[in-house]
Amino acid sequence: MANRRTPRRNAYVRSVGRFLPERRMTNREFEDMVDTTDEWIVTRTGIRERRILEPGLGSSYMAVRAARECLERAGASPEEVDVIIVGTVTPDMLFPATACLVQKEIGASRAWGFDLSAGCSAFVFALTTGAQMIEAGRYDKVLVIGSDVMSTIIDYEDRNTCVLFGDAAGAALLEPCPEEGYGVLDFVQYVDGAGGDFLHMKAGGSKRPASCETVKNKEHFVYQEGRQVFRHAVIEMANVSAEILERNRLTGDDVALFIPHQANLRIIEASANRMKIDRSKVIVNIDRYANTTAGTIPLCLYQAVVEENRVRKGDYLVMSAFGAGFTWGSALLRWWE
Ligand code: ACO
Repeated sequence: MANRRTPRRNAYVRSVGRFLPERRMTNREFEDMVDTTDEWIVTRTGIRERRILEPGLGSSYMAVRAARECLERAGASPEEVDVIIVGTVTPDMLFPATACLVQKEIGASRAWGFDLSAGCSAFVFALTTGAQMIEAGRYDKVLVIGSDVMSTIIDYEDRNTCVLFGDAAGAALLEPCPEEGYGVLDFVQYVDGAGGDFLHMKAGGSKRPASCETVKNKEHFVYQEGRQVFRHAVIEMANVSAEILERNRLTGDDVALFIPHQANLRIIEASANRMKIDRSKVIVNIDRYANTTAGTIPLCLYQAVVEENRVRKGDYLVMSAFGAGFTWGSALLRWWE
């Protein structure tokens, strides 16, 4: 019998959504809080302002709103969703998973789901996980969300970290791509647990549960050795971005858009240089939203697709991220719409 090739069932991004809190916090506001300046923050990071969520709302609040917009844009009803994956390091609570809270709130009555913890790489990891569920043929609608309320785990007396982060959520609906050769084509992902020493939260887990002492010692905030994280991020995000191109025999010229995690403008530029991709093809919004952890990549995707309407059928997109873990990775998409 002839050996017939079964076409691969790629996933593609059918639609996107996002949620941005209204409150804008500028660099100037930090000048009254810690020993810093607008000039230092802009030149060392590229950040000018960030959004801050009203206290008491939580990640699910933003995730639900991003998810609703995403489904509306697709003209899909919540009951059609099969799986919800929420990337976050700031879940509403340790359990139940934020995905369960989102499932209830949007009325995704058939869906199951879970949270994915991978720091700033969470959205890329969630997207490739969801894409593989679709490739496997088991599901037709996977809702992938990145949502982080970083303002709830930041010490606003620590100038090393407080200026870096913001709050936001973004979502993408994945479906089977109607045409072969498009959608999520490939990905490369890594973790290196040795990086945990440089970026973590010291308490609040099972090893060091919350106590009066942990609160007094400020152990429920982001602990980051910025220089170490920067050193690894600048190398690995650039390497993995180049790797995904090389293994798909593409060059920077072939890529229509580079969608990098927004932690530091210098890390973004180093990755773009390594890929030999023109700056005009790099999506940057760190100036407006800072590092929103799992939110950065879907916010950039939303900007490219909805706000700037600059993605066309057949365009190659590369998404790259680096975050706590360490975790890092790149995904290659060929746009279909
Ligand atoms: N204002 C003024 N000075 C500051 C500030 C500030 N806000 N923050 C730090 N400084 C000082 C430091 O104290 C230091 O002073 P010293 O030399 O007297 O000790 C000096 O500036 C230089 O500090 P560096 O850490 O070397 O500054 P650097 O140029 O590396 O920038 C930064 C710091 C922005 C944090 C950078 O290291 C960085 O972007 N790191 C990577 C962040 C990242 O990618 N995180 C991963 C994702 S987060 C996640 O997954 C949750």
